[in-house]
Amino acid sequence: MIEQPLTLPCGHQVANRLCKAAMTEGMADAYDNPTVLHQRLYAAWARGGAAILTTGNIMIDRRYLERAGNVVVEDDSVLPTLSAWAQAVRANGSQLWAQISHPGRQCPRMVSLTPLAPSEVQLDILGNFGKPRAATEADIEDIILRFANAAALVQKAGLDGVQLHAAHGYLLSQFLSGRTNLRQDQWGGTLANRARLLLAVVAAVRARVGPAYPISVKLNSSDFVKGGFTLEESVQVVQWLNEAGVDLLEVSGGTYEQVEFFKQIPDGEIRDSTREREAMFLEYAKSIKAVARMPIMVTGGFRTLAGMEAALTGQHTDMIGLARPFCLDPDFPVRMISGQLKALPVAEDNLYLGRGYWGPNSSSAYLRSLNNFAQAGWYYHQLDCLAAGRSPDPAASPLGALLSHLFMDSYKSLRRKFV
Ligand SMILES: Cc1cc2nc3c(=O)[nH]c(=O)nc-3n(C[C@H](O)[C@H](O)[C@H](O)COP(=O)(O)O)c2cc1C
Repeated sequence: MIEQPLTLPCGHQVANRLCKAAMTEGMADAYDNPTVLHQRLYAAWARGGAAILTTGNIMIDRRYLERAGNVVVEDDSVLPTLSAWAQAVRANGSQLWAQISHPGRQCPRMVSLTPLAPSEVQLDILGNFGKPRAATEADIEDIILRFANAAALVQKAGLDGVQLHAAHGYLLSQFLSGRTNLRQDQWGGTLANRARLLLAVVAAVRARVGPAYPISVKLNSSDFVKGGFTLEESVQVVQWLNEAGVDLLEVSGGTYEQVEFFKQIPDGEIRDSTREREAMFLEYAKSIKAVARMPIMVTGGFRTLAGMEAALTGQHTDMIGLARPFCLDPDFPVRMISGQLKALPVAEDNLYLGRGYWGPNSSSAYLRSLNNFAQAGWYYHQLDCLAAGRSPDPAASPLGALLSHLFMDSYKSLRRKFV
């Protein structure tokens, strides 16, 4: 089943059911352009034979990044390096889709002291995020244009598809959530108003890229926070997206406040039932699949061939999205498709700074966040190894990875300010 091709509503075909989900690389140069590191990393993944490789967050506005080191697509100047990246993937037999995104309030202070968001609702995580400014009508028009422009540039550069990031608490997801969107104009209030920006962006992107170019949307099944975007709301938004010409809907969940897509369960606390459930959003995805007319892709937690096959044959999903396994075993798809490989490594169960109070389920929000940063830093380190042409480094320490991540992000933020 995972080996079967899939034809998307726009007519575009993908070779099998495996997709590398987005992972922010932090490898852009000081001018926010892709580099040879992207080419090497993605060539290694392309050799593994996944049908689609989704880029990490590509930003539509240089002023607002998810992290220094993000690629930015604003104008023609990025075309040569973006094309070289797409070429490196295509030459090795895979497709490259760009995840285009705006961070909204999830933009670190080192990038912007005053991020842009639906409303002035600040994100309080380790003091890392400034109080956002509420977008004006003109800002919103600009955001729509920027998404459409970025999609057109990505298409011009020869990438095979585009994904709009409307999950994980980034700007489009902030607009969807009643917790972060307190607006009382046509962009806030009712769900129809909160979804207006996402639908306007999809329409604007479609108008620019034409009917045959794949558009994907990454959407939360739920934010999993009080007052946030709920499963019922997600199901309704998918019904609206049915009418909007979306070719693939990626289902995820959580935001920076509740990092559901990064689940860590300290060793010893893992129950077999948790492991068996594997894909963490699959239950939610069933409600979405029941109404979705476009193919869906569930991402998060898939680690066994049996789990993937069961989700596909049960028609709970059409594609399988995977992220972290690609960091440790970059070319696993080819072995999984041939049936040689049955299970993937699960490093995240051990990626914590301590146990109990010091661990990922600590009663201290501060320590929970530090543990999340440590896990992210550990995976960034693996990406750096692959991009440098080295093997992954599973023995790396989460604390070391956390410190190096904080240092490197600060360095990259300063570097781009001073060029
Ligand atoms: C290092 C790292 C970076 C990530 N960056 C992004 C990103 O840029 N955009 C995004 O939508 N999700 C991002 N994610 C989330 C993944 O796409 C995926 O939803 C999540 O890791 C769950 O899938 P998995 O269990 O297969 O890893 C990232 C995950 C990791 C581990």
